[in-house]
Amino acid sequence: MNIVVFTGAGVSAESGLGTFRDADGLWEKYRIEDVCTHEAWLRNPELCVSFYNARRRETLAAKPNAAHEAITRLQRHFPGTRIITQNIDDLHERAGSTDVVHLHGEITKLRGQRSETDTVPLEGWEQHYGDRHPDGTLLRPYIVFFGEGVPYFEEACRITSKADLLIVVGTSLNVYPAASLLHYTNDNCKIIVVDPGEPAMGDYRNRVVHVKEKASTGVPSVVDALIRENQ
Ligand code: APR
Repeated sequence: MNIVVFTGAGVSAESGLGTFRDADGLWEKYRIEDVCTHEAWLRNPELCVSFYNARRRETLAAKPNAAHEAITRLQRHFPGTRIITQNIDDLHERAGSTDVVHLHGEITKLRGQRSETDTVPLEGWEQHYGDRHPDGTLLRPYIVFFGEGVPYFEEACRITSKADLLIVVGTSLNVYPAASLLHYTNDNCKIIVVDPGEPAMGDYRNRVVHVKEKASTGVPSVVDALIRENQ
């Protein structure tokens, strides 16, 4: 069975990392226009760098939760299971998951001004503004800012189009093109959504099995049922 797991900030909420649009979400505390758009980077790069330094420090202090661990169990039981995430944290990888497609970048890496994907690793939490990429340009967070291209979106669509089962965890499905991944499922693909809230499932609502639970309980129960049914 070809399984794809598509995650958003909700899968890391119980690891202590804030979501974006919930009541106390990140975008309640910071303006996207100040720290997460291409114009913001051009206007005030140092503010962007310090915003992501703070995110990075939180990420390094966080630990994978039972949902990340269950997704790793799923990947081990069903070889070929792919994970596509909108998250910039590395909690999937730290839970032992592999081959994770990060649509919106990775907080543990930096990039230059030329290539969207030629990254360099960052040791520790702090990027020093002014350091340069091997290509000579200024280093910046390896984050897809609003208004920028999503380099791995086509790959994510190709992966999703082959799924027999798409498990969507902890995303409001508000941000495009990532949220449009549901449109790339084939007609036989089953969709399970694990979210205590109401993501914007649009006309997929009638195709979706909605497990209205937090990730740390909902995902393990879905994974354990799948493993039981496919012993
Ligand atoms: N378990 C599961 N889901 C949860 C939990 C939880 N414990 N807590 C909250 N959620 C759900 C919310 O109900 C909501 O549907 O997680 C989702 C969080 O939605 P957003 O905050 O919009 O996060 P996300 O969908 O990942 O945002 C997408 O927007 O700002 C950009 O680049 C950023 O990747 C991000 C993108």
